[in-house]
Amino acid sequence: MSITTNFLVLALAAGLVLVAFPSLCRGGGDDDDECQPVGTLWAPTQNNHSCEECCEAGHSYKTYRCSPPVVVSGPGGGGGGGTKAIMTLNNFTEGGDGGGPSECDGEFHRNSERVVALSTGWYAGGKRCGNSVRIWAKGRSVLAEVVDECDSLRGCDREHGYQPPCRYNVVDASQAVWDALRIAGDDVGEYPITWSDACSVGYRDCYSFFRAFLGISIILFIIVF
Ligand SMILES: *[C@@H]1O[C@H](CO)[C@@H](O)[C@H](O)[C@H]1NC(C)=O
Ligand SMILES: *[C@@H]1O[C@H](CO)[C@@H](O)[C@H](O)[C@H]1NC(C)=O
Repeated sequence: MSITTNFLVLALAAGLVLVAFPSLCRGGGDDDDECQPVGTLWAPTQNNHSCEECCEAGHSYKTYRCSPPVVVSGPGGGGGGGTKAIMTLNNFTEGGDGGGPSECDGEFHRNSERVVALSTGWYAGGKRCGNSVRIWAKGRSVLAEVVDECDSLRGCDREHGYQPPCRYNVVDASQAVWDALRIAGDDVGEYPITWSDACSVGYRDCYSFFRAFLGISIILFIIVF
């Protein structure tokens, strides 16, 4: 066989393997074990900030460094897979409940922008900053940019809007994201969703990328033979 043939057979095999086993695209292990807390944070006993979501004076909160492994979206990208999370509502403007400016760019954001903050484990020290994630809910999906950390290690202070540390599985989203998913009324505030990384090469996500890769391999194969 010629070098071209060898290459094409190899590409086809790689494409098939990656589509058959999309879990190869995963960022971590494949168990869904819940994250274990790494510590306890005590809210100040003198607490002037009472709001619905604020830390309770003298109350303790668990802190987390990890988040569950990120899973690639399922076949068809229709929400059959992806990483399970809880979507919460955040106000990214100055003076909003998001606290200080966004961790990624040091800026505040308008709530009309499709932006999200991720729990500390998923934020991964800023690795996803500026990247898009695809969020699925109610049979719809939307792309949103990662601009901030939903801090699972710290909280109950001014910088964090006097709110408790984030849970380890939160996608904290702007109003625009909720609107795009057409979640309204009483459902707004906390909603189960799935999400996955959107590939930076412009594909919707890793799964679509590998599907396209397989398609191109097959076409080349047909052309050559
Ligand atoms: C509560 O408010 C008082 C007066 O406004 C201030 O002196 C004190 O530092 C505040 N305490 C906290 C924990 O923010
Ligand atoms: C966000 O917070 C700002 C400042 O407190 C407030 O003016 C605005 O109404 C809030 N927006 C939403 C959608 O809650």
